[in-house]
Amino acid sequence: MREIREWFDGPVALSGSIAHGASVLAAQAMGADFGYIGSAFIATKEANAVDGYKDNIVEAKAADIVYSDLFTGVSGNYLRQSIERAGMDPNNLPKGDISTMNFGSGGNSEAKAWKDIWGSGQGIGAIKEVQTVAQFVDQLEAEYRAAKVALDAAYRG
Ligand SMILES: Cc1cc2nc3c(=O)[nH]c(=O)nc-3n(C[C@H](O)[C@H](O)[C@H](O)COP(=O)(O)O)c2cc1C
Repeated sequence: MREIREWFDGPVALSGSIAHGASVLAAQAMGADFGYIGSAFIATKEANAVDGYKDNIVEAKAADIVYSDLFTGVSGNYLRQSIERAGMDPNNLPKGDISTMNFGSGGNSEAKAWKDIWGSGQGIGAIKEVQTVAQFVDQLEAEYRAAKVALDAAYRG
C-alpha cells in the first residue's frame, strides 16, 4: 500500500484475508479506501454455493488453506477438507502442469475444479456461522466501530 501511495492517489481496494471489521479499519490505516472481501461472502445465505462449501468456510481456519497448482495448472488456495473429501492427500498433492492449464469443469484432476475442490482465502477463521449478507455487513460495521474505539483508547494510553 505504501509503495502504491507513492504514485497513485486515487481509490484503492485492498483485498486478501479480510473477513472482520477490524481488518477493514486496518486496510484504511494502511492507506486503502476499501477493504475487498471475497471468501467470507461465500458463507452467506444468498451465495450460490452448496451448503457443504459454506459449512467448510465456517469450520476452517488459515491452517486449513492449501496452496496448490494441481487443480487448474495455476497455483491457488483451497480448503483442505474439500481436497480430502475428493480422496486426495493435501500434504502430498502431485504438481500441476501449466502446459495443460484448465479452468473449466474437470480441471486437471478427476474432481471438478471449483466445484468439488473449494477455493478460499486465509481469513475465514473469523467466520463463525452462515448469515444473511445484511447480518454479516451489520457485524462488520459493529466490529469496525469497536476496533476504532479500542484503537483510540490504546492510543490515548
Ligand atoms: C468465487 C471466487 C473465485 C475466485 N477466483 C479467482 C481466480 O480465478 N483467480 C484469482 O487469482 N483469484 C480468485 N479468487 C480470489 C480473490 O481474488 C480473493 O478472494 C480476493 O483477493 C479476496 O480475498 P479473500 O477471499 O481472502 O477475501 C476468487 C475468489 C472467490 C471468492
